[in-house]
Amino acid sequence: MKLLKLAATALALCAAFSVQARSVEDIKKDGKIVIATEGQFAPFNFFQGTKLTGFEVEVAEAVVKKMGVKLEWKTLGFDALLTGLAQDRWDVVIASHGVTEERSKAVTFAAPHYCSGGMIVALDPKIRTAADLTGKIVAVQTGTSYLENVKKLTGVKDVKNFPQDTDAQRALISKRVDAWVSDKFVAKEAAAKNAKAGFKLGDMLFVERIAPAVAKGNTGLAGAWDKAFDEILADGSYAAISKKYFKEDVRCPK
Ligand code: ARG
Repeated sequence: MKLLKLAATALALCAAFSVQARSVEDIKKDGKIVIATEGQFAPFNFFQGTKLTGFEVEVAEAVVKKMGVKLEWKTLGFDALLTGLAQDRWDVVIASHGVTEERSKAVTFAAPHYCSGGMIVALDPKIRTAADLTGKIVAVQTGTSYLENVKKLTGVKDVKNFPQDTDAQRALISKRVDAWVSDKFVAKEAAAKNAKAGFKLGDMLFVERIAPAVAKGNTGLAGAWDKAFDEILADGSYAAISKKYFKEDVRCPK
């Protein structure tokens, strides 16, 4: 009897975790796509007052317009975003995820919407390179490629994790850490917006291709997204959004 109950629980659990992702046809029929992001990673996804905006928010809006459906945004902690795809809680995640081998096991990535990388930021101008991080305490956001890449360095004294990238940034401002590793464009904007903080931008620790994700194997949706994305690359709307945020085109080289 006990065994039976156990088997039933196991089965229920399996069912709960293997929810079928919505196909692009389902989405078109429904007329609405649900996209999740974090909303705490300026200038890519952030809140301006109560309005969600940012480079990748505008890119997604332009893509979805081409797809001809309505868009519903959900904002959640960075850590919860990719797992929600497997549970069919949303159709797409766009939150500056770098395409990594590990993540590619769990989700399917669409074509990259920008290319960037992790940059070292410090207050001490002597901390600029990976080697300069030896014996230092480094702040990064939990669950990011920055954490993975800083962990790979030998000699770093400690890597401190923060739920939000802005918390990691604040740890540097208040000198609780010696360096902060974040996206190159996030770092540039933070430096420009807080001149008083005196951020020194150092080397790029690594480069990465940043892409939206769909549930593992939902290639129909990824394909429809990529087709619409190609259209905004071709018709100048991507270039205009990129110029607005960065004064340059951040698309990945072909
Ligand atoms: N590019 C990094 C990564 O792939 C950081 C992404 C952080 N995104 C965010 N919305 N906070 O992990």
